[in-house]
Amino acid sequence: TQATAYRAAILHSLADPALVGLDASYAYHEDGVLVVADGHISDIGPAEQVLARQPANIEVISFENKLITAGFIDTHIHFPQTEMIASYGEQLLDWLNNYTFPEERKFADPEHARRVASFFLDELLRNGTTTAMVFGTVHKASVETFFSESDKRNMRMIAGKVMMDRHAPDYLLDTPESAYADSKELIERWHNKGRQLYAVTPRFAPTSTAEQLAMAGRLLQEYDGVYLQTHLSENKQEIEWVRELFPDRKGYLDVYDHFGLLGERSVFAHAVHLEREECARMGETDSVISFCPTSNLFLGSGLFDLPEMEAHQIRIGLGTDVGGGTSFSMLQTIAEAYKIQQLQQHKLHPLKALYLATLGGARALSLDDKIGNLAIGKEADFLVLDLHATPLIQARMKNAHNLFEQLFVLMMLGDDRVIAETYIYGDRSYRRS
Ligand code: GUN
Ligand code: FE
Repeated sequence: TQATAYRAAILHSLADPALVGLDASYAYHEDGVLVVADGHISDIGPAEQVLARQPANIEVISFENKLITAGFIDTHIHFPQTEMIASYGEQLLDWLNNYTFPEERKFADPEHARRVASFFLDELLRNGTTTAMVFGTVHKASVETFFSESDKRNMRMIAGKVMMDRHAPDYLLDTPESAYADSKELIERWHNKGRQLYAVTPRFAPTSTAEQLAMAGRLLQEYDGVYLQTHLSENKQEIEWVRELFPDRKGYLDVYDHFGLLGERSVFAHAVHLEREECARMGETDSVISFCPTSNLFLGSGLFDLPEMEAHQIRIGLGTDVGGGTSFSMLQTIAEAYKIQQLQQHKLHPLKALYLATLGGARALSLDDKIGNLAIGKEADFLVLDLHATPLIQARMKNAHNLFEQLFVLMMLGDDRVIAETYIYGDRSYRRS
């Protein structure tokens, strides 16, 4: 089929700056061309060179004052919490009881679930997020409708039904057996259907019995390539509670470890209060952390020490954690990540932040062979960023003397207004009006 060429400045990540140094970590083409055919990247490079090797009649779409980059990857978010974002005044456990559980109850109604899933996916597109790892509710139908809406948009999503059989209101509880059966059905219907992938989703240790966590482990054993997502060491009271509930375990992470839930497709949100031994175990098992800056600040959870976690060879992605987080925007999420590192006397270079939001996220989700940058052969999920998105950004850009300063300005001042266009699998799926 027909190829299309997109001409603009192009920037994308090639590797982790921590491993290869800043210079080798990215490619930048000031006047670049990206060629897309059949939903995949078929060529990329300096405009003159790329156009010389393409057919003379290729359709070329050109952009002014724009920057093309890979779609953002949000490694932790709850779609059912969309309409309770910005709920006042509580930290984790009271926030769950007072706001979250009553909101999630509404998803017993599949029509409600479909409306919110649809709004949520459109909001991701508006914010330039092309892949996310997503919690549903305890209701099987919430995930069924989520996948069907995501599949309709052809977005690469990982999602799962929450497993929760204690310490929540009766109206939100399942059982070890029903959680197993419902998850199984969803896996068989959706895992690897189109671009959809399944994640076994025990909410967190306090809301699952040992029997249910064992069922989660069994699902991981039975299905190849299925993910695990949950929460870990987010809040001091939560950690204390896990110790009381599982006195035979060494600590919070050991609860998950005991039931076989660690591994290269296991993503743990937050992990702001890990012990040294737990960090080592995360690294050893190649388990992943989703760093959720806006949520960790909003819920008063704590400050994530990025260099310390990386020193233990732990793969790390960024997560918005909406509705504990306060923004769908990965740019805003990066801005808060930067400030959290500043509070600990660490720097977060804009190229490292770009890596975390794109290729690093893809690596965290073991999808870096398919998405995360604009390398030839990858799925064509990409963004057109507006370097003049707002009057302030435009004014500030006049004083941005190089690529890194421009990128940093977008990250500190930007939000959904910076996203001019979002492409999914080669198709324009969003255009700012
Ligand atoms: N821990 C258990 N459930 C949740 C949740 O919904 N959000 C956050 N941030 N932490 C949790
Ligand atoms: Fe969360």
